[in-house]
Amino acid sequence: MINMTKILLIGNGAREHAIAEALVKGGAEICAFMAKMNPGISALCNKNVELGKLTNFAAITTFGNKNKVEFAVVGPEAPLAMGIVDALKAQGIPTVGPTIECAQLESSKIFARSLLKKYHIESNIQFETFKKMESIPEFVEKIGKENVVVKPDGLTGGKGVKVWGDHLHSEKEIYDYCQEIFDQNGRVVIEEKLEGEEFTYICFVDGKHVVGTPIVQDNKRAYNGDKGPNTGGMGSISFSDHLLPFITAEDVEYARNQLEKVIQAVYNETGVEYKGFLYGQFMKSNKGIKVVEFNIRFGDPEAMNILPILSSNFVEICRQILAGTLKNEIIFDTKATVCKYLVPDGYPINPKANSEIIIDEKALKEIGAKIYYASVSEEEGKIYTSTSRAIAVLGIADSIDEAEKIAEKATQYIQGDLFHRTDIGTQAVIDKRTQHMNLILQK
Ligand code: AMP
Ligand code: GLY
Repeated sequence: MINMTKILLIGNGAREHAIAEALVKGGAEICAFMAKMNPGISALCNKNVELGKLTNFAAITTFGNKNKVEFAVVGPEAPLAMGIVDALKAQGIPTVGPTIECAQLESSKIFARSLLKKYHIESNIQFETFKKMESIPEFVEKIGKENVVVKPDGLTGGKGVKVWGDHLHSEKEIYDYCQEIFDQNGRVVIEEKLEGEEFTYICFVDGKHVVGTPIVQDNKRAYNGDKGPNTGGMGSISFSDHLLPFITAEDVEYARNQLEKVIQAVYNETGVEYKGFLYGQFMKSNKGIKVVEFNIRFGDPEAMNILPILSSNFVEICRQILAGTLKNEIIFDTKATVCKYLVPDGYPINPKANSEIIIDEKALKEIGAKIYYASVSEEEGKIYTSTSRAIAVLGIADSIDEAEKIAEKATQYIQGDLFHRTDIGTQAVIDKRTQHMNLILQK
């Protein structure tokens, strides 16, 4: 029997399901350490999985060493921010992801913004950091209350940011929210509000080289028409030219160059090279392309737009990230993708958990749709919702229009107390975003 490379995957969402699929496609055998059973990942591992806390590094190391893995790949940010890469490496398991020092790019918004400022990286915006209330009113006065965005310093699972006009409507609300953060012993970043169109740019980074992947746009609001509360992301799109109608190749090269400067700055600051995936969240505004935030991992849902159309070998890319030999020759299919999340009724405020989901796999296959399991549980062969996003459906096609039709049709073959955004990837929404961008650029 040929001894295949074995790789340890850490995480259990749809993003990790997409990572698992790319590793298997790259010729690896995988095993997975998960907080909750993901039926899709489990099937790709031939059930070689272990359940436990993703921050239980001792248990993860034991599982990895038992399986004699060549290396590990980490999906989510929480274990990265707690130093999983350092812990596994110390026990002989090379791990694709940033070390604890480099992980501060996501785990501390103060670290990220201050780094951009110190190294004069142009895509930074005006900001100030605070440990107590005293000097906040002065800064709010300086930038104008209608330009205020308040962020807690640390990881908040995407739910900590409050923006003037969306979540904050008076000076009192600004100060109350800052006080709430101080009361939890947090620190506050106040930064200027950007207006424009956001895009996700995820890069492979080997310490020196920064190699881009297709540009993706996520949709954060829960309901059609960008209404309702913010979510982890209801669905995302990418175009066959790997750009967006309002994001040019020059914009992308500018963003990539900014990320290269960030990687160099992280090294200068910490003495450690950033290796892994780097997610740049950018806004194209009338002041140019600006950093909204960094994530130290693949995006979810963005991983589903990117990895399934990767035609280069993902296992090789991971090896090159670890070795510092990443080449600028990573190839993606010239295909458009539309990903839509099916989420439990009531999500994100009052999600209906433990409700059965029935999937017509044969019909999905017939229409060429792919599915990725997120937060579901499996009992006696049946799939149930939990309190978070349940299943992502993906359409891949030559045009965004066709990809959208596949994804939309796929939602009909997944039954349960679920809803999704029917507008993601439609021409109407794309036109709306393009018009918004044009309006902003004319300002
Ligand atoms: P973050 O966790 O920093 O990505 O923030 C979550 C969301 O808040 C972003 O995706 C934006 O939609 C919004 N946001 C964050 N920072 C800003 C900003 N400076 N200006 C406008 N919107 C922002
Ligand atoms: N799509 C947003 C995130 O991965 O954080």
